[in-house]
Amino acid sequence: MKFFVDTADTDAIRELNELGMVDGVTTNPSLIMKSGRDIKEVTKEICDMVDGPVSAETVALDAEGMIAEGRELAKTADNIAIKVPLTWDGLKACKVLTGEGRMVNVTLCFSANQALLAAKAGATFISPFIGRLDDLNLDGMELIAEIRDIYDNYGFETQILAASIRSVNHMSEAAKIGADVATAPPDVIKKMAQHVLTDKGLDAFLKDWKATGQSIL
Ligand code: E4P
Repeated sequence: MKFFVDTADTDAIRELNELGMVDGVTTNPSLIMKSGRDIKEVTKEICDMVDGPVSAETVALDAEGMIAEGRELAKTADNIAIKVPLTWDGLKACKVLTGEGRMVNVTLCFSANQALLAAKAGATFISPFIGRLDDLNLDGMELIAEIRDIYDNYGFETQILAASIRSVNHMSEAAKIGADVATAPPDVIKKMAQHVLTDKGLDAFLKDWKATGQSIL
């Protein structure tokens, strides 16, 4: 499973990228607002740093506007994936933009039928939002499994990009189901390294090592 980082925080992306943990980045209008930076400036900085796809989101509601914004955002760098919402107009924009050879990430997906339409429209990525479904007491992970089944049934090449990830369990569950990509906030990716038994074991080893009176260097 590829790891995308869900942030516009360039310091956080840099840190993870140096460890080889970044296959791409996703941003959205809320993350751009949080960064306090200009969308084109911050997107360019991220694209220069990361080799993989960097999603930048359109904000127009009509297909024509999304297409114009998408083309403008794509001028930033070759690795831009244009993000459009899963509306009828978003699907129209997806069809046109992918037809021009651009990567398109269809976002705000909350049902298997929406994901089916995005694949038919030629989306490069479909972004089902796990956490926001869980927030409503629905099962976000079940949606990932449904989309995996449907895409595999028909050989759709659209990549399933598990989004709105809130926990380390979301990461392992998405990987078990076979999501192609998971996009997660930097802190969730870092938390994947943690285990209470690792900490406990390390404490015990260090205690015993101290008792030997030895040093390695
Ligand atoms: C990713 O593309 C989405 O914008 C993001 O994962 C949304 O996450 P949230 O539901 O935590 O805002």
